Amino acid sequence: MSDRDAHKKQAALAAVAMVEDGMVVGLGTGSTAAFAIDGLIARVRDGLKIVGIPTSERSAKQAADGGIILTDFAHHTRVDLTIDGADEIAEGTLDLIKGLGGALLREKIVASASTRLVIIADAPKLVPGLGGTVPVPVEVVSFGWQTTAERLAALGARPAMRQAGDAPFRTDGGNLILDCHFGPIADPAALEARLSATVGVVETGLFIGMATTALVAMPDGVRRLDRKG
Ligand code: A5P
Repeated sequence: MSDRDAHKKQAALAAVAMVEDGMVVGLGTGSTAAFAIDGLIARVRDGLKIVGIPTSERSAKQAADGGIILTDFAHHTRVDLTIDGADEIAEGTLDLIKGLGGALLREKIVASASTRLVIIADAPKLVPGLGGTVPVPVEVVSFGWQTTAERLAALGARPAMRQAGDAPFRTDGGNLILDCHFGPIADPAALEARLSATVGVVETGLFIGMATTALVAMPDGVRRLDRKG
């Protein structure tokens, strides 16, 4: 296992330790969240009683294959605790950029229904401000995506169509993703509002005021950051 993966796993297991019997648990998506799902599978095998709401088809498969009982919003409209990764975490606010793994829409729906959203990451993802290292993924409907891309460009982005091999990447919902390079973002909440109000946009990878806790694996151990207020 690489050092980075070992750190991701460390953060993931710290979050898994927060899960208690009887919880409805949101299951994130991505390489870090996959370590958390593995950790939950191990605890379920040891007798932990939970049900999981997955944020992607691949997390659903991993969890179900490992013996986690899955549920959905028809049965539970609230999630006690969601464990998910992120692409950037703003150190002061815990605002996030998510969605480089392509699951941002379901991730945001699950996060919005969660009492606690625990973000797990390795150290390079903890940044002073958003937008410096990754683009903002924006999920758009495929009809007229070219005009949506023009509107996003007018907001200051450089939109790039996410590819999967030779074809455009398709989300679990069948939509497209435009990765929007803005550079450092001075006011993430204002940008999120503008992106969300853009015709053709389904959801954005800016998660503002949603994370309650971040567990970040540093060289000297896992650092816990809690959102203030
Ligand atoms: C998935 O859509 C994303 O939001 C992931 O949570 C994020 O990209 C982090 O993924 P990794 O843990 O693989 O870096």
